[in-house]
Amino acid sequence: MKTELKLKIRNYFSVFSICLATAIYILFRFTSQVPTLGAEKEKLKQQIFAISQSEPLRTGAFSPLPKHTSANPEKARLGKMLFEDKRLSKDDSLSCASCHDLYHGGANSLKTAVGIRGQIGEVNTPTVFNSQFNFRQFWDGRAASLNEQIEGPIHSPIEMATSWTEILAKLEQDKRVIEEFDKIYPKGLHRESVIDAIVEFEKSLITPNSAFDQFLRGDASALSARQLAGYQKFDTLGCVACHQGRNIGGNMFQSLGIAGDYFKARGGFLNSDLGRYNVTKREQDKYVFRVPSLRNVELTAPYFHDGAVPTLEEAVRKMAKYQLGRNLVAEDVEDIVEFLKALTGQLPVSLQSVRGTANEAQ
Ligand code: HEC
Ligand code: HEC
Repeated sequence: MKTELKLKIRNYFSVFSICLATAIYILFRFTSQVPTLGAEKEKLKQQIFAISQSEPLRTGAFSPLPKHTSANPEKARLGKMLFEDKRLSKDDSLSCASCHDLYHGGANSLKTAVGIRGQIGEVNTPTVFNSQFNFRQFWDGRAASLNEQIEGPIHSPIEMATSWTEILAKLEQDKRVIEEFDKIYPKGLHRESVIDAIVEFEKSLITPNSAFDQFLRGDASALSARQLAGYQKFDTLGCVACHQGRNIGGNMFQSLGIAGDYFKARGGFLNSDLGRYNVTKREQDKYVFRVPSLRNVELTAPYFHDGAVPTLEEAVRKMAKYQLGRNLVAEDVEDIVEFLKALTGQLPVSLQSVRGTANEAQ
């Protein structure tokens, strides 16, 4: 029975592979720069509809994560130390890990972030896992790289509220830190080496071998029947038009509320709701966000840029409603949620060794 199913799925793969390539080309060609207003929105809706009418199991829209990190282990080890170092905040109360809990999916369970002196931010904390595979950083994509991203929390008055001068002055008092940097960086302890080490650590934070990645690599039995059904729905409904690629998201900007007014239903207004507009000041970028990665999404509730969505079920329901104009029945929601759980990968190897768990990524 199982082999029969496997064969069936394998056949699917070969028969559709050419159509897949074409479909994916079209998908990328027309959705990577999706406009957001009026007639253009209508065009996007039609594209999503067209995608949803085409063949199922378009696995080519996705690719598995690499099994091993390319990060330099020495630098990553130093970077981990810095990531967990509270001297990176003005009053020594917060480290990067205070908000990006490495044992909580690289995020935390707060609605929005809490910075020094208990200041509450406007947006939810995204995961640092696999962030290297996102085409830009932050909900509004304002940072082009991980190196650039770090300046954000360091200088934000409601996050770490400090400066490199202050940070380096504190670290320079610490002999052990100086020695560690001298061992690895020709420049020694320096703003650039601090950033480089943190980025190298972030590069080590990949979560390989999720059930879905095993499936993508050809193991048809890696997904349960429920997950397979959820995957088909994710595909045919059109979620894949936006959540795709290596990170199942993270490779394009899209507007929130294509098929309905999310913000009106939620109520209230936050400056951060303007999304990409805050960066470009272009009218068409209002309410546009970088599509988030769905990897490990089961671990990172609450959801959306505003953290206003407490459960994964509700996130799926709201996505269907506001992005695709569909009201899903409970079974569809449950199937899709099961599929999303198949996107949970292994704890990054650079963290496993610390906890003493098995240190091999298959
Ligand atoms: C006060 C909590 C807080 C602290 C401290 C903090 N972050 Fe963040 N981090 C956030 C929030 C909130 C966002 C999203 C901000 C936005 O999009 O406007 C974010 C975004 C990010 C992102 C982008 C992820 C993505 O998918 O776009 C990375 C990477 C990141 N932080 C790394 C770090 C590093 C490295 C440090 C330490 C230097 C740090 N963070 C400190 C809360 C925090
Ligand atoms: C038109 C593009 C688009 C489509 C189609 C779409 N999404 Fe999304 N998705 C987004 C954007 C943009 C966000 C971020 C929303 C925000 O920032 O508030 C998001 C957020 C999410 C989140 C929350 C992630 C997090 O970390 O907060 C989940 C879960 C999700 N989508 C699942 C789905 C599912 C399931 C479908 C299909 C039913 C779907 N999406 C269809 C663009 C899309």
